[in-house]
Amino acid sequence: MVESTGNTKIKTAIFISGNGSNMKNLIKYSKLKTSPIYVNLVLSSNKKANGIRYLKKTKIVSKIFNFKNKKDEEKILKILKKRKINLICLAGFMRILSKDFIEKFNGNILNIHPSLLPKYKGLNTHERVIMNNEKFSGCTVHLVNSKLDSGKIILQKKIRINKKDNPRTLSKKILKEEHVLYPKALKKFLSRT
Ligand code: GRF
Repeated sequence: MVESTGNTKIKTAIFISGNGSNMKNLIKYSKLKTSPIYVNLVLSSNKKANGIRYLKKTKIVSKIFNFKNKKDEEKILKILKKRKINLICLAGFMRILSKDFIEKFNGNILNIHPSLLPKYKGLNTHERVIMNNEKFSGCTVHLVNSKLDSGKIILQKKIRINKKDNPRTLSKKILKEEHVLYPKALKKFLSRT
């Protein structure tokens, strides 16, 4: 079980595919004295990810993988072991990790999803939420298991949807909440006794 003891930070890898605002936020958070994590590595499934461009300005090691076959996963597990990574945070990561990979990593993988899970798993969350005239939406940090967006929920934040909201404004509002929720959820998850 991965657990923060207070004086050693948990070596963490972040997996991304795109913009990387949650990644940037977690990196910023990891630099705080009170943060239980230390970001040691970023893996991206997309070489053009904005997040990767940002990393060039930092000392954090980043690598690109397709994540589409077993060979890639084996290589990734080796790198994680070499860099002594104990925790993976998925942040806008658009690939599905295999059951084998998740088990080999002892399930210490978290994800953030822009809905109030178990509602609206998968893609195009905000479009579906608006189409269904929902009054509330939000975001969820959860453990990753082999089923999409279905692992144990760590923390959620609920927000009210305004009549004027559209998928774009809702996404913007929720992303802001995600940046608050992910660090909080990490703290909660890593201080389990
Ligand atoms: C976030 O809304 C996250 O919840 C979802 O994808 C989006 C990624 O945004 N999984 P960013 O790349 O962190 O800016």
